[in-house]
Amino acid sequence: MKREGFNSKAGAIAAAAGSAVGLGNIWRFPYVTGENGGAAFLLLYVLFMILIALPVLMSEFSIGRMTGKPVTDAFKTLSPKGYWYGIGFSGVVCAFVIMSFYNVVAGWTMYYVYLSLTGKLQGLNPEEVSQTFEHTMSDPLISIFWMIIMLSLTGYVVAHGVSKGIERYSKILMPILLFLIIVVCVRSISLDTENKGIYFLLAPDFSKLSIKSVLEALGQAFFSLSLGMGTMTTYGSYISKKQNLPKSAMSVAMIDFFIAFLAGLMIFPCAFACGVNPGSGPGLVFETLPNVFNQMPMGYLISIVFFLLLVVAAVTSSISMLEVLVDFLLSRYNMKRPRATVLAVSLTIILGIGCATFSPMLDFFDNLSANVLLPLGGFFIILFVPLCIGAKKMREEMEAHGGKFKLFPVFYFLAKWVAPWAILFIFISKMLSWMGIELFA
Ligand code: TRP
Repeated sequence: MKREGFNSKAGAIAAAAGSAVGLGNIWRFPYVTGENGGAAFLLLYVLFMILIALPVLMSEFSIGRMTGKPVTDAFKTLSPKGYWYGIGFSGVVCAFVIMSFYNVVAGWTMYYVYLSLTGKLQGLNPEEVSQTFEHTMSDPLISIFWMIIMLSLTGYVVAHGVSKGIERYSKILMPILLFLIIVVCVRSISLDTENKGIYFLLAPDFSKLSIKSVLEALGQAFFSLSLGMGTMTTYGSYISKKQNLPKSAMSVAMIDFFIAFLAGLMIFPCAFACGVNPGSGPGLVFETLPNVFNQMPMGYLISIVFFLLLVVAAVTSSISMLEVLVDFLLSRYNMKRPRATVLAVSLTIILGIGCATFSPMLDFFDNLSANVLLPLGGFFIILFVPLCIGAKKMREEMEAHGGKFKLFPVFYFLAKWVAPWAILFIFISKMLSWMGIELFA
């Protein structure tokens, strides 16, 4: 069966960036950074992006493109005897877990489009804005309804195929989102007359870091770049051989970081100006942003468009997870694309109803995926590179476009000696602290 590919270079980068940029940047990054004390956490995050996440991203791209196959088959092709294909299966499980809670949050975003449109967010004071979010979260019917709409939209795009669907949407809309984020940033910073938000994000206080923060910084890097479960492997299989793979990976990582950073600049100043605690958890974006919109010219309009584009960013990410599932069903069970999509969406809705009704389940899935499943997946993926592919083949793939990848020795060193062991170390600490918490709580 012929596999579809991306039509253009910009299209492939836009689609991978579309997967990376999503609620992970605008919803998850600020709330996790807020909970972990701000600037020092940001620094750790940058460090992990460069030393661990970027090499994993390059590896995922290479493995996908090398084989041209979806994730489960990719590992089996490169290493027929081992159990490495298990990476693909764990990715499929992981995609279900993430999709189920991700689409609940995306559903809230969509509900906020509706609230903005109907003017229900206008003129509220910060306390009322917080109450609105609490109401949203605690009413399962709202969450379930909007989650189902979100998942149907995602399913619609995926059912229409890779290049026609994904590429077309992400290329146009992401730049508009970026522009709006910058506009909102400016207003938010101007509200925070004492610059507390900027200090929070930029002046590190290392006493606020704990082992928990180290783990969460790593988890956030994986989550934000869509790593550790085969999303980027699958996207890699769609990238053309003519494209400069290491450079594409770097562009995607840079875009992803930049947007998360801007999201921080947008949220924290407003949080301080409006008296919202930056460590208040998963509701942070929803409890801060409406306050900025309420205090800026054309706030009504901007709030509608902003939440709408956030929905789009969430859809492009959600698509990339659904794509992993659908690709798996297509190649393994020889299903037709529409039928595979309906099946995957229906299963996700069932899990999602759990997350929508029972918020501890949402938190648990969020934590489980970012802090356990993805780093573990990333560990095996990066370990696969020196063990089963080797430097020669890896280099050939990364230079297949005909250019040189000068930093290859650095990449390979990180892939062999730094990234896997750092992940393992952090991961084991995570397990221990987790067990500790369970034992002594
Ligand atoms: N990276 C996306 C975001 O930041 C979410 C996402 C898409 C994802 N695909 C993934 C996370 C695969 C982990 C794994 O919103």
